[in-house]
Amino acid sequence: MTARKPTKAFGIDVGGTGIKGGIVDLSTGELIGERYRLDTPQPSTPESVAKTCGAVAENFDYAGPVGLTFPGVIQKGTVMTAANVDHSWIGTSLVTTADPHLPGPVTVLNDADAAGLAEVRYGAGAGQSGLVMMVTLGTGIGTALIHDGVLIPNAELGHIEIDGHDAERRAAASVKERKDLSWEDWAKRVTKYLQTIENLLWPQLIILGGGVSKKPDKWVPLLETRTRLVVAEMRNNAGIVGAALAAVEGVEKD
Ligand code: BGC
Repeated sequence: MTARKPTKAFGIDVGGTGIKGGIVDLSTGELIGERYRLDTPQPSTPESVAKTCGAVAENFDYAGPVGLTFPGVIQKGTVMTAANVDHSWIGTSLVTTADPHLPGPVTVLNDADAAGLAEVRYGAGAGQSGLVMMVTLGTGIGTALIHDGVLIPNAELGHIEIDGHDAERRAAASVKERKDLSWEDWAKRVTKYLQTIENLLWPQLIILGGGVSKKPDKWVPLLETRTRLVVAEMRNNAGIVGAALAAVEGVEKD
């Protein structure tokens, strides 16, 4: 007899500014109850981030599988890059660091990969075949590539070089704020970024996410791409939901 997969799991989304968690109903992709958020500790060192993840989880009456996202490349549970969090993470096992603080076995994956998985399963990418690309515009630019529902992990296309610059340093949502750009000026930068990507990958669909996707009317109509663009439906919860999904379905181990 095969064991039945759990129908709910706990997801935690670690970002440059906040750490959010919630219990996810995996049959619908919806949160069971409210999510809980704490600020990302500064400096965002491994032990302080792991403790904060534990403090988020303590707010829930939950024991079972836990999925955890991280804003960097993850291979075999280890952090390989850390563009927007403390660099001491590089080479650190996220699994062993977080495990003692969490209420169940931990699965870890890149934050944009988690968001992409969630949107393709439950949200704006549901039913789309072929190559779907998720782009999260936040502190950095996160990207996920999902082909016919299968994740190609750790696509770091937020760091492609455009006009001699790391793309996320020109077009992330944080750049709009830092430089006080108008929606029009920022949308021009995002258009240039998306056009570069679509000319290289020719995806069927691009899903736009990140905190800024809460106000799509301000900028999405200004974008010019050949590829169909849609706004993430799960908004800021996609990372939590994708983490919970990965906790139960697993991620590529290599
Ligand atoms: C990181 C990615 C991450 C993205 C969004 C980038 O700087 O390199 O791994 O997905 O930020 O957090």
